[in-house]
Amino acid sequence: DNYCKIAVVGGGGVGKSCLTIRFLRDMFIDKYDPTIEESFRKDIMIDEQAVTLEIMDTVGQEENRIISDRYLRKQDGFAFVLSLTSKLTVGEAKRAFLNIRRLKNEDNIVGVLIANKCDISEEERTVSSDVSKDLAKEFNVPYVECSAKTGENVHDSFYIIVRQILKA
Ligand code: GTP
Ligand code: MG
Repeated sequence: DNYCKIAVVGGGGVGKSCLTIRFLRDMFIDKYDPTIEESFRKDIMIDEQAVTLEIMDTVGQEENRIISDRYLRKQDGFAFVLSLTSKLTVGEAKRAFLNIRRLKNEDNIVGVLIANKCDISEEERTVSSDVSKDLAKEFNVPYVECSAKTGENVHDSFYIIVRQILKA
């Protein structure tokens, strides 16, 4: 009966699918069809509790999005994802957050803000940690810098969400 529904949301190309696949299968797929919107199940043990996760990998581009408001509203927690390589994705993450807050009609949203692609070089990085940390504060969720490519912090990000859901 420990069932957690998590949606991975944010702008196009931030790495939502790669993070999902890294978490589920511990691998990195460089090219993933941006129009695939899919949910996956995974059974995990967390703090000695058996939990079934249902993870919905949503699509960034609104034209290709099929997920309904009703479905989004039913999610227990959210991975809000931005890419450290794109300033644009900061605003997109915020849009996703505001949309979910409106749909759920709750002041407090359970989730985590993932700043993905932390493996990139200083030159490729266009979003500072300060900016993305401030966004996490605004969302009132924990902040994690991740890399779906190397796997850094990916597991932890999802576990942070699950722990919050189980506590709620
Ligand atoms: P949409 O489904 O279109 O909304 O995109 P998405 O958020 O699912 O992004 P996706 O996972 O398809 O990744 C987009 C691109 O970013 C791909 O070319 C990935 O190889 C690349 N990418 C994803 N995660 C990382 C990462 O952690 N580091 C680096 N360097 N590249 C990444
Ligand atoms: Mg995708």
